[in-house]
Amino acid sequence: MTTSPSTAQQRTVLQVGPLKPSLAQTLQDDYAAYVLPDAGAERDTFLASHSAEITAVVTSGRTGVDAGLMSALPNLGAVVNFGVGYDTTDVDAAAERGVAVSNTPDVLTDCVADTAVGLMIDTMRQFSSADRYVRARRWPVDGMYPLTRQVSNTRVGIIGLGRIGGAIAKRLSAFGCTISYHNRNRVAESEYTYVSSPEELAKGVDVLVVAAAGGSGTQKLVSRDVINALGPDGYLVNIARGSVVDEAALVEALDAGRLAGAGLDVFADEPNVPEALLSMDNVVVLPHVGSGTVQTRAAMEALTLRNLDSFLASGELVTPVPMPAAASG
Ligand code: 8YV
Repeated sequence: MTTSPSTAQQRTVLQVGPLKPSLAQTLQDDYAAYVLPDAGAERDTFLASHSAEITAVVTSGRTGVDAGLMSALPNLGAVVNFGVGYDTTDVDAAAERGVAVSNTPDVLTDCVADTAVGLMIDTMRQFSSADRYVRARRWPVDGMYPLTRQVSNTRVGIIGLGRIGGAIAKRLSAFGCTISYHNRNRVAESEYTYVSSPEELAKGVDVLVVAAAGGSGTQKLVSRDVINALGPDGYLVNIARGSVVDEAALVEALDAGRLAGAGLDVFADEPNVPEALLSMDNVVVLPHVGSGTVQTRAAMEALTLRNLDSFLASGELVTPVPMPAAASG
């Protein structure tokens, strides 16, 4: 369903894809936003009548704005993204068209880093699996749960030492872990050891934590070779994007016992999770809940609206993402 905004000023905002219900409601109530129909004839009809009115899109990392939709919105000035990851929005196309893009950095860093550490502990200590063991009443029958792996003092490699990767490193340092990392560029003045390739990093650690941004530059960065380098005693934790890992290779390695375990909050084709993972007790699967707390989602919502308000008032975004250098000139 689309709404019918009443004033020209209000007729500028378009919601693309599902959003946090309170945010979607605010867009309806305070901005009289249109909602883009999902697909098909209804969408075509909507665009045929309203595309020229739209100056700002509000979307999330789940949906984003691709080059096709961008070219269908000739007066689009900003894509306001709920979420830090904006890999579903085509920033090259945005830069070419002079469309600014914002995200919601910083406000979710702590929550996502908490999730990474929780997922690492759950995976290595098998708490979710042990909980299932108790619930299935196996304890009185089968006895003590098998021994698991210690988390403290392990060697951890972080792929992507940005805000979230840095917050994970800080937490795991307090666990006595030795931290090394791979990043597009060495992080100046970092106390952690830089390793020049993901494969070299994987070779030297017990746990590889993926915290790199998604997108074409990091597609399958954690390749079959990287997974093999991690080896049968190694663990993989991914709180970034499913696209950063070769998921088929990961499933194969787990299936063949070439990897000790995996903790995954993100998948290549969400919400679809590879069937094979569901029966593995050395794998913890979460439904992309990294930032999913009341406090953090409220902060993300507030920052999304600050970006929208700022754009509508001045044409400037509060937290713009860096645009590709060549295209943005
Ligand atoms: C959100 C995320 O769940 O911020 C991100 O990039 O992955 C999560 O915090 C997601 O963006 C909401 O669509």
